[in-house]
Amino acid sequence: MKKPKIVVIGSSNTDMVVKSDRIPVPGETITGGSFLLAQGGKGANQAVAAARLGAEVLFVTRVGNDMFGREAVEQYQREGIDTSFIEVDATAATGVALILVDAKGENLISVASGANHALYPEQIDRASEAIGQADLVILQLEIPLATVEYAVALCNKLGVPVILDPAPAPRVPLPDSVLKGIATIKPNETEASALTGMPVTDSESAEKSAQFLLDKGAKSVIITLGTQGVFAISACGERAFVPSFSVSAVDSTAAGDCFSAAYAVATVQGHSLSDAIRFAAAAAAISVTRIGAQGSLPTLAEVNEFLTQHSAF
Ligand code: RIB
Repeated sequence: MKKPKIVVIGSSNTDMVVKSDRIPVPGETITGGSFLLAQGGKGANQAVAAARLGAEVLFVTRVGNDMFGREAVEQYQREGIDTSFIEVDATAATGVALILVDAKGENLISVASGANHALYPEQIDRASEAIGQADLVILQLEIPLATVEYAVALCNKLGVPVILDPAPAPRVPLPDSVLKGIATIKPNETEASALTGMPVTDSESAEKSAQFLLDKGAKSVIITLGTQGVFAISACGERAFVPSFSVSAVDSTAAGDCFSAAYAVATVQGHSLSDAIRFAAAAAAISVTRIGAQGSLPTLAEVNEFLTQHSAF
């Protein structure tokens, strides 16, 4: 099967994770949790996930001139990711995410973006030749929106399809040029609500919200609904509803990143919308059974084994 060439443009963070029975309320201190220091960042998680699933990955990101940044780049190289266009910022620190996880695997994340917010269009330009050779580019929203907009326009010029994972939920409306320029947008229910101004709670409301995004120019919309499953439609009339796999959740961090990367790999390999979603849902389901972001991301063999156990892909 073809080895997909995927470029991920986005954030790199160091995650500091505390898992405890519950997440404290403002002003409260709770004790008894366990701690994990690990690589994260939505862009980085997607790059690592795609590499573990068999893609040839080039990652465009920005780190600080510090220990966290150096460790992150070394880790990406160990994963076989091309780091030629990772740049080290002279003044900003590597991004850091503080993550609290409760007993049900739900999380709460606060990010100090650091160098991620200094990833400007000029850096995208420096990688443009490599971007032009990709089968697909994945973007998220942990870098400046102007850079995302620029990257989408460049990909359109180069004829490279783009998947946008609009996470974290945008605080301002996405420019129409972004929605018109992407092949696929993949929000979760919170992000879909933020993008459309419509509450998204189930497949019916997801369909309305997805139709709104199609009308704005996106060519396909995939809305993940947590344990309820995944709803998708495309401008050429495809529709899919894929139920979620039932697993015992430990930590949902990076499940959305894992889904986007796995969907990207499967779609480049030519799978149908619903088969690619099923593959992505399986990869994401495995990731929620493990603690941490990149530590939770499965290999291709693990996803295939999972799908065999849950009937063939
Ligand atoms: O999507 C999960 C990621 O969000 C974490 O790894 C954290 O770094 C934040 O960016």
